[in-house]
Amino acid sequence: MNIESELHMIAGDGETSYAKNSRLQEKAMVEIKPVLKVVTREIYTDLLSRRMVIVDLGCSSGPNTLHFISEVISTISRHCNELGQSQDNLELQFFLNDLPGNDFNNLFGLFEQFKKLTATKHMGETLPPYYISGSPGSYYTRLFPRQSVHLFHSLFCLQWRSQSPKGLEGTRKTHTDGGDIYITSTSSPSTVKLFQKQFQKDFSLFLKLRYEELVFGGQMVLTFIGRKKEDVHSGEPNQFYGLLAQSLQSLVDEGLVEKEKLESFYIPIYSPSVHEVEEIVKQNGSFYVNHIQLFELNWDPYDDSESDVLHDSVQSGANVAKCLRAVMESLVASHFGDSIIDTLFTEYARRVAKHLKKEKTKHAVIVLSMKKVL
Ligand SMILES: C[S@@+](CC[C@H](N)C(=O)[O-])C[C@H]1O[C@@H](n2cnc3c(N)ncnc32)[C@H](O)[C@@H]1O
Repeated sequence: MNIESELHMIAGDGETSYAKNSRLQEKAMVEIKPVLKVVTREIYTDLLSRRMVIVDLGCSSGPNTLHFISEVISTISRHCNELGQSQDNLELQFFLNDLPGNDFNNLFGLFEQFKKLTATKHMGETLPPYYISGSPGSYYTRLFPRQSVHLFHSLFCLQWRSQSPKGLEGTRKTHTDGGDIYITSTSSPSTVKLFQKQFQKDFSLFLKLRYEELVFGGQMVLTFIGRKKEDVHSGEPNQFYGLLAQSLQSLVDEGLVEKEKLESFYIPIYSPSVHEVEEIVKQNGSFYVNHIQLFELNWDPYDDSESDVLHDSVQSGANVAKCLRAVMESLVASHFGDSIIDTLFTEYARRVAKHLKKEKTKHAVIVLSMKKVL
């Protein structure tokens, strides 16, 4: 599976598009705002730079990246005012990065409206001039010149691996895990190790590359889906993708998907624990972690309640399926073909509804801010 050419969120702004189905990520953005504010203010104060370069890695094609830009502009502008400093000569350069298959056109189409809304929201205030550009490419490669970036931000991306772990075909595919697409309670130790190794390799590379691109004192705010428990065999991600595996298996049973096709499909994702993340940052040794925290979000992006009671499991199942489809459709379609997509996500919605009726489940999300110190 080639992630660079096969992964993209559903383009455009139609019913199934990522732009219309990214409320889960929007809720995460709201949750991390306090961290982002602290980091943005610190960068402005520490670096005293009149030209700040700010990057959103894995921006996708929906409005969340614009919420991020808006937050940074407002924070810097307010901070300047609080310090009684002029915003003269201050300039903000934003780069929006994603894989080349991302629908940058849809995103660029939102810019004009965003600029108008920002001007209206800050009517009567002076805002620093800001410039927005697209930057296609994988963040597992170098994207920017040496020591040129002040702030990297990435929301709901770093659970994605650069590729499915190599060698899985030889390790799993016993009669118990033939249909697994991610780690499950019955995965063999060698399967788990391959997923973990891929995560360690990717995340170490990511840190090394960003280290080269950050100025000294530059910072990163990284938010991604992790897992709450240390036990890699059980937890929310296993259930979430396990239900997708079961849905695919039911299509095999109906003769709509070939068994061999399912047996060669693994999702290029790994959701680490906080401890696993800390270990890799420690090994890298070039960053100081200011903040690391785990928070939870209901699987159903439209369920804002804190309670364990679910009001409408069928509706919640449909909401979760729409959210996952906007993210996964391109990968699933390139492996199994377009024709199964509707059936698969209808089945997934049904299985999620059944699961949530028994147990309201949440995603565990890790937010981490760190500073380049060496
Ligand atoms: C779930 S979306 C999140 C998008 C956006 N940050 C938001 O919060 O709405 C994950 C994004 O990460 C991007 N992505 C995954 N792997 C990537 C990589 N190696 N380089 C750049 N972008 C990547 C995907 O293309 C996708 O747009």
